[in-house]
Amino acid sequence: MSTELKSAAAVSHPNIAFIKYWGNRDHHLRIPASGSISMNLGRLETRTRVTFNPALTADRLILNGEPTSGKQLQRVQTFLDHVRRLAGIDLYAEVESKNDFPTGAGIASSASAFSALALAAAAAAGLQLSEAELSRLARRGSGSACRSVPGGFVEWLAGEDDQSSYAVSIAPADHWDLVDIVAVISQVHKPTGSTEGHALAETSPLQKARLKSAPARLEQCRTAILRRDFEALAEVSELDCNLMHAVMMTGARRLLYWQPATIELMHAAGEWRRSGIPVFYTIDAGPNVHLICPAAEADRVAAAAAQIQGIKEVLQAPAGSAAHLLAEEVNL
Ligand code: DP6
Repeated sequence: MSTELKSAAAVSHPNIAFIKYWGNRDHHLRIPASGSISMNLGRLETRTRVTFNPALTADRLILNGEPTSGKQLQRVQTFLDHVRRLAGIDLYAEVESKNDFPTGAGIASSASAFSALALAAAAAAGLQLSEAELSRLARRGSGSACRSVPGGFVEWLAGEDDQSSYAVSIAPADHWDLVDIVAVISQVHKPTGSTEGHALAETSPLQKARLKSAPARLEQCRTAILRRDFEALAEVSELDCNLMHAVMMTGARRLLYWQPATIELMHAAGEWRRSGIPVFYTIDAGPNVHLICPAAEADRVAAAAAQIQGIKEVLQAPAGSAAHLLAEEVNL
């Protein structure tokens, strides 16, 4: 057994999906029931260092300077077990991770967290993986994390097994200067997280119809991105978001994530669009609203969103690049 410390660090951006991932074909492997398309969120980052250390008797996770325990640590341990199996090593690891965006800001941190962890853990374990293999690895930690591995505008090819389910870039970050304006309505942790939510999706009578029509929306979204057709992207993204929320609201347990301010912003986005401002909304498993618009409109849209009652904070993120390793000497 090696007595050396093996360390690597990586950085990754979160992402926002235009075509959503909701429901799995295989929950354990996180093989999604349908494909999805997203944009990485530049400026916001997770930085993670993994050190396999023979002196450790258990894995450790230090998140934003605080040692963690319980479910959060367990999820990382399960992920590291998978990496150890792939690499044929039996050392425990210390994982140190920092987000430069507030954990409660309503931006899902699991995507950037498991994407950065996949890159850092694989490198520290001595695995040499291609981008597709890293995306597959990140997927095991959190489905949406596989989309944070490649850069810019990304499609997760649903596939049908572990081998065929990974994400690819469909256009680089500088292809289109879109900005995600995140209108934060609640900073508290969601009562039902995505993992539980995915398991409920198939209990909605609407999920079948949503899945059946997903390939057409994926095609429309991909084409809209490649042609930089804002109106087409707006139409298909709002439709896809509404379909996901309809499924959420109609499962065996009702998941109603919207707050009054959420609905207020959905109406506002429609009114702004009708008045000539290119903007649309999309919403994940929480009340916060992501307003997508061209960079030239970002300040105007952010200022208008901040006026709405119930909006606590407004963040802006342009399209972001791929996850990558950091030089050894870089501080997190
Ligand atoms: C609503 O990737 O967070 O944000 O695989 O259980 O970690 P787990 O789920 P997660 O689900 C994301 C759900 C979503 C839609 C999306 O990002 O596509």
